[in-house]
Amino acid sequence: MNTKTSVNTPGVSRVLTGITTSGTPHLGNYAGAIRPAIQSSTEPGVDAFFFLADFHALIKCADPARVAQSRMEIAATWIAAGLDTDRVTFYRQSDVPEIPELCWMLTCVTAKGLMNRAHAYKASVDVNLAKGEEPDDGITMGLFSYPVLMAADILMFNAHRVPVGRDQIQHLEMTRDIAQRFNHQYGGGRDLFVLPEVQIDEAVATLPGLDGRKMSKSYNNTIPLFEGGAKALKSAVAQIVTDSRLPGEPKDADNSHLFTLYRAFATHEQAIEFRKSLEDGLGWGDAKQALCERIEAQIGPMRAHYADLMAHPERIEDILRAGAEKARRTAVPFMMRLREAVGLRQPASTAGGKAAGTGKGAKAGQARLVSFRDEDGRFRQRLFAADGTELLLSEPFGDPKVLNALGRSFAGRDLSSLVAGTDGLVSLESDGLCWARCPADRVNAVRMALAQV
Ligand code: TRP
Repeated sequence: MNTKTSVNTPGVSRVLTGITTSGTPHLGNYAGAIRPAIQSSTEPGVDAFFFLADFHALIKCADPARVAQSRMEIAATWIAAGLDTDRVTFYRQSDVPEIPELCWMLTCVTAKGLMNRAHAYKASVDVNLAKGEEPDDGITMGLFSYPVLMAADILMFNAHRVPVGRDQIQHLEMTRDIAQRFNHQYGGGRDLFVLPEVQIDEAVATLPGLDGRKMSKSYNNTIPLFEGGAKALKSAVAQIVTDSRLPGEPKDADNSHLFTLYRAFATHEQAIEFRKSLEDGLGWGDAKQALCERIEAQIGPMRAHYADLMAHPERIEDILRAGAEKARRTAVPFMMRLREAVGLRQPASTAGGKAAGTGKGAKAGQARLVSFRDEDGRFRQRLFAADGTELLLSEPFGDPKVLNALGRSFAGRDLSSLVAGTDGLVSLESDGLCWARCPADRVNAVRMALAQV
């Protein structure tokens, strides 16, 4: 994987995944996707981006009330399940207008033939043909170009890893394909996009539903997560299909999906003990009771938080808004670079003999990054705030390209964790190179200025 020119911080793995806001999370979503994603977001060196794919929801669902309700339920679920929204970047796709803009750029390099081969599209065509309809009957451009929007979601943030279900593997292959074309066409020898890797977690088993098939809304075999409270959980568990062995008869744990469900919410020791009880003849009624208690032990403590969020949509909105702001700190400067790359904008700063950004070409009221040559013939940059205040002077570099790339690499980066040295200066370093040093109380102004240059 090539991360040469990624805007990511070196040594940090950026993990990104999206959740389409067209349904209500059930227990299978929780154990199969939400819980492991939250868990992995706490690992050191992981920079997690989780987002509500609400533009994707419009492709699947034409019911505005359902889309709105699902957004709330999904956001509240992730937060109640323990997502640390200060640590990760948790946002709503439609709050980041750079994503549809990138989607268009990608659309312009994507071969139509590639989209013709998408499984989801082909499945819809097959259904039409089987019914004797026109192949594209009822198929929107949204459905057809769904993979391009997904590629934009991923490439916007140069994610390294994308944890998804098996059904999404082809979309990741397409994302890499599209990224490669774009890099080739517009990179000028440098890669604009990281090629993301798909991450299929083999250890996370898909949870069986009431009937033993994969738990899924389309099979109508789900166990609710928060909806309906403990009562709904209980009545769903009561419907789990079991064999007809009576209490006292030994049960076959390995062939019981009730046991699989239990295991997903139990420690190793608890699972061993439960297996033994089943083999010793525990009745299915008592087994269901035990399963309920096990699930409830994990989900129960989250219920109040979930209910509280659902009762205060403005709290969810605030969290999403803050998340979008954080996401756009990366997306806005990267989008500017992409606009330059495709020729929609003139490069803002060009390192070279002459100072750029000053004199006639300088725009009033906007931050500027000015490159120039010092007396020793080496290259430096000065960063100016929108009001003209000089914020920093870079270290000198022999190679203007290195300097330029280094300066740019700070745009969109979260600088808040940088610590000042004993001299009160914060060192802006990347790949072992120091771009500049600046007073700690100026870091925020530097960050804001960099977002504009
Ligand atoms: N298509 C994904 C799904 O249905 C949701 C999604 C949208 C997504 N954009 C994404 C997943 C980007 C990962 C990365 O599950």
